[in-house]
Amino acid sequence: MSWRIKVPATTANLGAGFDSIGVALDLYLFIKVSAADEWAFVSHSKHLHDIPKGKDNFIYKIARQVADRYNKSSLPACHVELFSDIPLARGLGSSATAIACGIELANLLLGLDLSNHDKVQIATEIEGHPDNVAPAILGGAVVGHYEDIVQYVKVDISGVSFVAVIPDFELKTKDARAVLPETFSYSDAVRASSVANVSTAALVKEDWALLGQMMNQDHFHEPHRKALIPHYDDVKTLVAHHAYGVYISGAGPTLMVLVDEAMAKKHLQEWREAMPEHEWLILQPVNQGIDIVDGY
Ligand code: HSE
Repeated sequence: MSWRIKVPATTANLGAGFDSIGVALDLYLFIKVSAADEWAFVSHSKHLHDIPKGKDNFIYKIARQVADRYNKSSLPACHVELFSDIPLARGLGSSATAIACGIELANLLLGLDLSNHDKVQIATEIEGHPDNVAPAILGGAVVGHYEDIVQYVKVDISGVSFVAVIPDFELKTKDARAVLPETFSYSDAVRASSVANVSTAALVKEDWALLGQMMNQDHFHEPHRKALIPHYDDVKTLVAHHAYGVYISGAGPTLMVLVDEAMAKKHLQEWREAMPEHEWLILQPVNQGIDIVDGY
């Protein structure tokens, strides 16, 4: 018994699609799983140097939660090796990849035969919103809604790049959510959702220029969160003439530049030199989500 499970990183919100829209990117967590006498997690990644090595590991806890959900008492022990290129707590969906891995692990070990829809439902219940977990499982761009049950549309996208501007500090989602308002007036909600509606239509039509314009008009979270990200205005100004738009990736602190691929390649070095204190990474959308290889 051995499997390799590979899950893409994700970028969520894309401006006004708060808690709803996400895109899978070509940056991965993958785990190698084989039978063992007791549970062990071993990391081969600088991003995961401090992970719990036994049953206190987050991936094990998710797998156990799924086993309980299906009334399965035993979860056969495994040796799990982890490889990840995804920095933690930066707004690139690292926890969603771990949730997806834990669900898939339980699915494989217990022969649950879960559909992708089942996996997205379980993952959304755990995370609370589908914007990272749905594209991690399904790939592509996913527009989702969650209220007890998750509903979504997945579209394949191509022809655009995402340049991640990753600062060297972490921002916990809990802290980035604590600055958001608890209530929203009716007129503000109508205004904010019309920006989100046009963003969704632009995403589906791959009208990147329009999506970029809408990113600047989000009312749901960016105006409240930008104070937590000191380089927010400077990055926007730096890339303004060459990019479609800039948004806070998930809860931040990574900023994501939506840009034509040729433009990204042309200007990346200049942007890196202007702000060398951040890591600049060109990422591409991927339309394949979680991938399992049996007997790697
Ligand atoms: N939509 C979420 C947020 C993503 O912006 O808080 C992080 O979980």
